[in-house]
Amino acid sequence: MDKFVIRGGNPLVGTIRVSGAKNSALPCMAAAILTEDEVTLENIPQVRDIETERRLLASMGAEVELREGKQQDQTTICCRTLSDPVARYEIVKTMRASSLVLGPLIARTGAARVAMPGGCAIGGRPIDLHIKGLEKMGAVITQEHGYLEARAERLRGAHLVFDKITVTGTEDLLMAAVLAEGDTLMENCALEPEVADLAALLNAMGARIEGAGTATIRVHGVSSLHGARYRINPDRIEAGTFLIAGAITGGDLIVSNCNAAHLGAAIAKLQEAGARIDVLGPDAVRVRAVAQLSAADISTEEYPGFPTDMQAQYMALATQAEGVSLVRENIFENRFMHVQELVRMGANIKVDGSTATVRGPTRLDSAAVMCSDLRASASLVLAALVAEGETIIDRVYHMDRGYERFEEKLIGVGAQIQRLGNVFAPRDPAEVAG
Ligand code: UD1
Repeated sequence: MDKFVIRGGNPLVGTIRVSGAKNSALPCMAAAILTEDEVTLENIPQVRDIETERRLLASMGAEVELREGKQQDQTTICCRTLSDPVARYEIVKTMRASSLVLGPLIARTGAARVAMPGGCAIGGRPIDLHIKGLEKMGAVITQEHGYLEARAERLRGAHLVFDKITVTGTEDLLMAAVLAEGDTLMENCALEPEVADLAALLNAMGARIEGAGTATIRVHGVSSLHGARYRINPDRIEAGTFLIAGAITGGDLIVSNCNAAHLGAAIAKLQEAGARIDVLGPDAVRVRAVAQLSAADISTEEYPGFPTDMQAQYMALATQAEGVSLVRENIFENRFMHVQELVRMGANIKVDGSTATVRGPTRLDSAAVMCSDLRASASLVLAALVAEGETIIDRVYHMDRGYERFEEKLIGVGAQIQRLGNVFAPRDPAEVAG
């Protein structure tokens, strides 16, 4: 298993480039199921979750091609034949977002067999709202031996009101609705930019969707979709992570190829904590730490609120801010697993239910720590960048799930990071088979 060895203390200076959004790429790849034609996606990040989705689609009979060389960030998917519309547990267990194939599979083939995702490190993460919506559209869904079996002659448009805001739930039902007979009205939808990204692709494929990115989405069902070429939006969580990297190290960093319009909550909070932020244009943001950072509370919310996917990284920053920062996690239970590792590095953090109280600034020092999930890994890297001495971070495979060439990018702006072990190679056949 790969490890990072990080020597802290260097301010990060220079320009760092953001990759395409993993959380847009995953539903967009699943959307290819909805057509017999080719769907080509650009700005696809080369991360392990994308590789898992590629394996998932290929295991169902799809042709999936990842380009080499200059077009490395492009993938073409052709689901002309879906000989085996089954999402097997072996694949689903490693990536909960696999449940995104449920809606498109039923819509396209009238049948789906998808393994239940099971618990994941950051809480139960059920998919009951996906199931409820599909049933309302006429699917018959049963559960057997850990698999959901779904059938429907043709889905019917319906009035769907989400009991709770869910990002992949909104995406899954949107993909089901585009090929349903009649109109679907979806209310209390997720506002995340990734939903709008997916809807833009679907519309380019011939779907008729209005209102994606707002709480109310209207879909006029069509009988078939065609192929399309689409460019995925930049990853707002990766961009936010880099903004924190610039601020925490007292650096001067330009985060390029991002979408500044999607970074509002992160930018506002960093400014409140005393970082200087200049939006240089629609796709570039500069961050500088001009003075001692000061405490600022965060409370995770659905978009456009502060993202739960940046809570762990923000907590690393809070350890370096003067005063008491309250970090409230409102989206997932059990999303504080980075806390004990930060404490091992010297942070002063107490957790009570869904609130963590961070007292700073504290001197962080080198320790051996372990990643527990994707964003927790980023938090540990950020902490290590300001820790004294050499921090060893184990289980960086969690990081490889969602950050493209993370250490290479940070090294490019002055970080001292060494990867020990087998360097992550997403297209290595052995890796794919494993
Ligand atoms: C997506 C993101 C993830 C992010 C999360 C919240 C992807 C691939 N992943 O995850 O990075 O952290 O949004 O911004 O886009 N819930 C239910 N029933 C359901 C579905 C969800 O109760 O059927 C609950 C969840 O347990 C959670 C909340 O709703 O408490 C939000 O979850 P959801 O928005 O669905 O998260 P994901 O889409 O899995």
